[in-house]
Amino acid sequence: MYVVILAGGSGTRFWPLSRKRTPKQLMSVFGGKSMLQRTVERVLPLKPKRVLVVTNALQAAESRNQLAYLTEVPIDVIEEPVGRNTAPAIGLAASLIARFDPDGIMAVLPADHYIVNEELFRETLLKGELLAAQGALVTLGITPTRPETGYGYIEAENGAGAAAKVARFVEKPPLEKALEFLESGRFYWNSGMFIWGACTILDEIRRYMPALSEALAKLVFEDELWAISDLKPQIAEIYGGITGESIDFGVMERAENVQVIPASFGWSDVGSWSALPEVIEPSDHGHVLIEVREALSVDAENCLAYGSGKVVALVGVKDLIVVDTPDAVLVCDKSAAQQVKKVADELEKKG
Ligand code: GDD
Ligand code: MG
Repeated sequence: MYVVILAGGSGTRFWPLSRKRTPKQLMSVFGGKSMLQRTVERVLPLKPKRVLVVTNALQAAESRNQLAYLTEVPIDVIEEPVGRNTAPAIGLAASLIARFDPDGIMAVLPADHYIVNEELFRETLLKGELLAAQGALVTLGITPTRPETGYGYIEAENGAGAAAKVARFVEKPPLEKALEFLESGRFYWNSGMFIWGACTILDEIRRYMPALSEALAKLVFEDELWAISDLKPQIAEIYGGITGESIDFGVMERAENVQVIPASFGWSDVGSWSALPEVIEPSDHGHVLIEVREALSVDAENCLAYGSGKVVALVGVKDLIVVDTPDAVLVCDKSAAQQVKKVADELEKKG
């Protein structure tokens, strides 16, 4: 199995901790290793043939540095000159794998997910590999717990339960649809983790995203195996001419041979500050405290504080997110956590 790690996102909903150069996948949100390092370490027991990390030019050097200590399997960091969303990143990795190993199966994993039971996660990937070898596009489905509109929804043909053919894939539905899907009990959330043959996904891209397919076909490989750095100028040219699209909208919503495997290993996509209580045990009064030296709580409940090693006092407040970093402070109601992205976007516009 090959492992392709998508690590080019900007993680702007984690501002001010997450920045363009050091987005959340390069940070140690949970102390110790970064999410990227954990993502790679998590798959090493499967002895993948190769790990391909696809990221953007700003983050490539730091990604390489962070992974340099892992020497048991070859790891390539592939640099995109600009982010064009997940379909080009996946298409690029698939083209490389297919060139050198036409029967290669790839597991596509986002670099910024939190997984509770890692052994079960690996077993699930192996199940997916078997289905993918028969030509399926395999997704890992999570049992939904709320009408989240930031995820894709997967309807299983036989209802939720065992591995099943997918009847419908709906990316980021509006709220009323999300509610309907949740109540029907027939849907999973798309975890954003996929397993498929490199040639299988390239065929699907050819069918549903012909412009991307034509652009990728311009890659001319040297005969030397995996000489990825030589491809840099070609990748730059290809990216100059393509538009951004996610694999979910581009392929998954339209493809026919999709299978879903229920994933029960415990998962969070750690999408925003408000997702951290899913993965970090709250302390007294329901507060989630990260990097805080000491917390004082007076008539306060369910807050999240990130403290840069400082003392944090929470007084008379509820459901508040307070993040203190050397050059920026965030104060935000938990229910508005998705909108933190707007701050990062605004600051970027100002330059
Ligand atoms: N290399 C590269 N280049 N990686 C990228 C790019 C890019 O241009 N854009 C995003 N990524 C990476 C992100 O870093 C993340 O690891 C992964 O690809 C998914 O991108 P997101 O932007 O986080 O997607 P999403 O969360 O909106 O939606 C996806 O994940 C959900 C679950 O977390 C979809 O697959 C949904 O269907 C799914 O429910
Ligand atoms: Mg995400």
